Amino acid sequence: MTSSQVKDARFRLTPTQAKELSQEFGTPLYVIDEAHFRARIRSYKQAFEKAYKNGYITFASKANSTAALMKIANQEGCAIDVASEGELRGALLAGVPASSCHLHGNNKQKEELVFAIEQGIDHIVADNFDELNLISQILKETGKPSPKIVLRLAPGVDPVTHAKISTGQADTKFGFNIADGSAEKAVTQTLALGLDLYGFHCHVGSQLLDPEAQRSGGQLIADFAVEIKKAHGFEARYLNVGGGLGIMYTENDVPMSHEDYCQLIVNSILEALEGSGIDPILAQEPGRSLIGESGLTLYTVGVIKTVPAKDTTTRTYVAVDGGLSDNPRPVMYGSKYTVERVSGKPASPTSTYTVSGKHCETDKLFPDIELPSDLEVGDLLQVLCTGAYNSSMASNYNRYQRPATVLVRPDGSYSLVQQREPWEVLFAREIIPQDL
Ligand SMILES: Cc1ncc(COP(=O)(O)O)c(C=O)c1O
Repeated sequence: MTSSQVKDARFRLTPTQAKELSQEFGTPLYVIDEAHFRARIRSYKQAFEKAYKNGYITFASKANSTAALMKIANQEGCAIDVASEGELRGALLAGVPASSCHLHGNNKQKEELVFAIEQGIDHIVADNFDELNLISQILKETGKPSPKIVLRLAPGVDPVTHAKISTGQADTKFGFNIADGSAEKAVTQTLALGLDLYGFHCHVGSQLLDPEAQRSGGQLIADFAVEIKKAHGFEARYLNVGGGLGIMYTENDVPMSHEDYCQLIVNSILEALEGSGIDPILAQEPGRSLIGESGLTLYTVGVIKTVPAKDTTTRTYVAVDGGLSDNPRPVMYGSKYTVERVSGKPASPTSTYTVSGKHCETDKLFPDIELPSDLEVGDLLQVLCTGAYNSSMASNYNRYQRPATVLVRPDGSYSLVQQREPWEVLFAREIIPQDL
């Protein structure tokens, strides 16, 4: 382990907490540790502020848009990155003013833009030429002044991560390509439309354990800012290098420390800006690395079944009471997780299990997991690091109610922050025509 790599500090429940929570709220259950989340934000903020005098963190709420969590992030001094009207409405519900939010999206709808502008969004991260024209048209129609506009750039770097969470490469639906001249054209168009151009943004991908792509993305947008100042006299006031820092899903995933990561990013940007006179606010918008390790999912074992497998071996399936609808990441990205028994029973030798969900899919939710050989129906399992992209990506497949989320408070008490989806909410959209 190098000095830059972090120790395992993932949130875990004690057997007593797991038992209390399962009895009071049922399973499957998302559990978030408030103190852990606050500490992660503070650590990231301090690291960034130490590396750069004018650096600030926004919480990418797509990672977990539970309103209480957005409120905590904002209390800790984060702005909130929203990627839709729904996320913006969630932030407003949490008491976060629109002036602390910025709006992302590669195909923002007119209504979304109108809503964001009317609410007084701090800035819009514009993705394409059609959007720039649409914003200009909305301003003409509403008579509103231009919100600050940040241009999302595609720097053309290929991160080492799952293809579905790579966004900075040239062939991407996101942003204005720098190399083919689109980004420069976007600058001239934004200025020509009289919009309040504020700066530049890139987000190259997610769950990055090797920081090279973010380092070079940051450098490329800073180089671009320097070129634009030379060519057009426009001086960027703001550069945002997105999120993407990875977390410890399993012990094989060893991310960099916040300190080393922030220093690396800042150094590459400052080097590129040197001598240009550009002195911007620097922003990062992490999601996963703030909330991921602060959350877990608690499941109850319902079935243990051994079946014949290939080559005369057998496979033992452990079916839990959730799955793809509360955690689609294994199916979408082949994501691996750490699964532990948390039933308070004495340690026993382990066997290899395939933990499956209860959906009508052949989902090997968590394959090849070592769990105690005396695992029994009724045991509780905790799946670590589900704070990010689980609750916010949950679905109702098979008409499952989305799980509740409970916050473990710093004094050890529990607060329900999202209830299990009530049946009446699940069926609220149904309309059966009278004449059917
Ligand atoms: C534009 C943008 N910013 C920030 C993030 C947050 O990334 P992460 O959760 O990996 O930090 C994402 C994730 O998809 C994103 O698309």
